[in-house]
Amino acid sequence: MKKITIAIDGFSSTGKSTLAKQLAKELGYIYVDTGAMYRAVAYFALQNGIISSTSFDKAKLIDHLPEISLKFIYNPALEFAEIYLNGNNIEKEIRTIEVSSYVSKIAEISQVRAKLVQQQQVMGKDKGIVMDGRDIGSVVFPNAELKIFMTASAEVRAKRRFDELIAKGELVTYEEVLKNVQERDYIDTHRADSPLLKVPEAIEIDNSKLSKEEQFSLVLSLVEKAT
Ligand code: C5P
Repeated sequence: MKKITIAIDGFSSTGKSTLAKQLAKELGYIYVDTGAMYRAVAYFALQNGIISSTSFDKAKLIDHLPEISLKFIYNPALEFAEIYLNGNNIEKEIRTIEVSSYVSKIAEISQVRAKLVQQQQVMGKDKGIVMDGRDIGSVVFPNAELKIFMTASAEVRAKRRFDELIAKGELVTYEEVLKNVQERDYIDTHRADSPLLKVPEAIEIDNSKLSKEEQFSLVLSLVEKAT
């Protein structure tokens, strides 16, 4: 079977990464979570006082971009690659509600996107990759052989995210998570550079209507057709 590029885009908490990881494992492909890269830049901005609830120094972030080095290193125990910022594993730190509430503002900046997109294109140059995000089928890999666009209602997604955060011990309310999901949806679909959209050739999957097994076998049949 020839190796292909699989682009999975969609709103936050639609189960993109679960599906992408499952697919990569089944096919022996590399999996890249591009949301983790935007989250890492947001984490850097928070750590360095570049963004806060009262200010956002975009020029400073752009000046500091060359200092940001991101790497994925495979963790065999977890069976996926974790993200490192300048040599430090920040996989846990980037999943907080705090990072979630700033990340879409960071992702609006064209210079941030250009840096991350370039790195993503290098990671996928040999194909055999499943990448999930918001602009993978539209910008990063417009020639991907298979493009999937995942949706689910904001309430279903917020509930899923809320359960995950509570399981990790974060003190959040469902309303707070729902508000964050809706705000990110709005910013992600309305930004000028690379807004989240479904390209015409992408196959839409409504994740609230299918079980994980149904979804996986549907996507595997799409992979077979594309290879
Ligand atoms: O996928 P995840 O929810 O972790 O992504 C976090 C945020 O990063 C998104 O809400 C979006 O603002 C940004 N993002 C993006 N482009 C991507 C992946 C993520 O703008 N390819």
